[in-house]
Amino acid sequence: MLDLNSKLSSLEGALKAELSSVKDLKSLDEFKIKALGKKSELYQLTRNIGELDPAQRKTAGALINKLKTYIEQNIAELEAGLKTDDNKNKLSSEVLDITMPGRVYPLGASHPVTQVLNELIEIFKPLGYSIANGPEIEHEYYNFDVLNIPREHPSRDMQDTFYIMDNVVLRTHTSPVQACTMLQHTPPVRILSPGRVYRSDYDVTHTPMFHQVEGLVVDRGIKFSHLKGTLLYFAKRMFGEKTSIRLRPSYFPFTEPSAELDVTCVACKGKGCRICKNTGWLEILGCGMVNPNVFKYCNYPDDVTGFAFGMGIERIAMLKYKIGDLRSFFEGDVRFLRQFQ
Ligand code: DAH
Repeated sequence: MLDLNSKLSSLEGALKAELSSVKDLKSLDEFKIKALGKKSELYQLTRNIGELDPAQRKTAGALINKLKTYIEQNIAELEAGLKTDDNKNKLSSEVLDITMPGRVYPLGASHPVTQVLNELIEIFKPLGYSIANGPEIEHEYYNFDVLNIPREHPSRDMQDTFYIMDNVVLRTHTSPVQACTMLQHTPPVRILSPGRVYRSDYDVTHTPMFHQVEGLVVDRGIKFSHLKGTLLYFAKRMFGEKTSIRLRPSYFPFTEPSAELDVTCVACKGKGCRICKNTGWLEILGCGMVNPNVFKYCNYPDDVTGFAFGMGIERIAMLKYKIGDLRSFFEGDVRFLRQFQ
């Protein structure tokens, strides 16, 4: 027993001395294994207890455990101290510079078609127009018949229609909103109707989906001169004060008389160039006085008159920003889109 006592006290001295030289968490971990692990002297002593006299075993076990607990306590204390030091060191060495610039995320912008549409709305708003929306999937009746485009009439071929069912189409223009508005509201009516339209067509100036804006004004006493005045005001605000307009006779089944509107060429200002094919003019929309047949379909009284106009938003954007290929609006190329930020 004396032998064990002296062994334990010299072991205690040795372990304490070693612990006092531990200065960081890594060497503390190494010390833990060395002092208490399976190869440690303490562990060996515990295992040897079985070889002692049964009478001595209890006392020996208590003595060994006492030293073990003592060493464990010392380790825990030192570990707590080292951890605090470690945190302090980290706090003082790892400085956070809150004045550094943050990460810059790229900013998006609205699509040029949206920008031109918003501009259009701003131009017509002061004239008292309200916005009317209609469905993109439309019954043939509203896309054609009600607009005075009967089934066998050649004017149906003016537009390459996507049929999705027997009598249901993807609307080929925003004009059906004219009729739907008149079927739902009594005159006077003053609406602007923007939206997507669809035609089976694809080249430099055509895409299967594009955007149109439809305008409709109906009241008693509406004349062609009102239409002309409205379009002149619009052209000047959209393309600049110096812009002139020209109305050319044309044909649309839903207007009578019908016309097409030209504006001074945006590129040569009317002198004649490649873009306007040397005419000095660019065509931008179709318009006319609402055909009395359309009023009849919509159960409107005989004494009202009205004008309507319809234009492609991409076409306006192409002219305004001098873009050569309509398809670039829908390719999602950020190098193209960034120019409109
Ligand atoms: N709906 C015609 C088209 O898609 C455009 C149009 C022409 C609309 C004359 C009108 C109009 O309201 O009066 O080509």
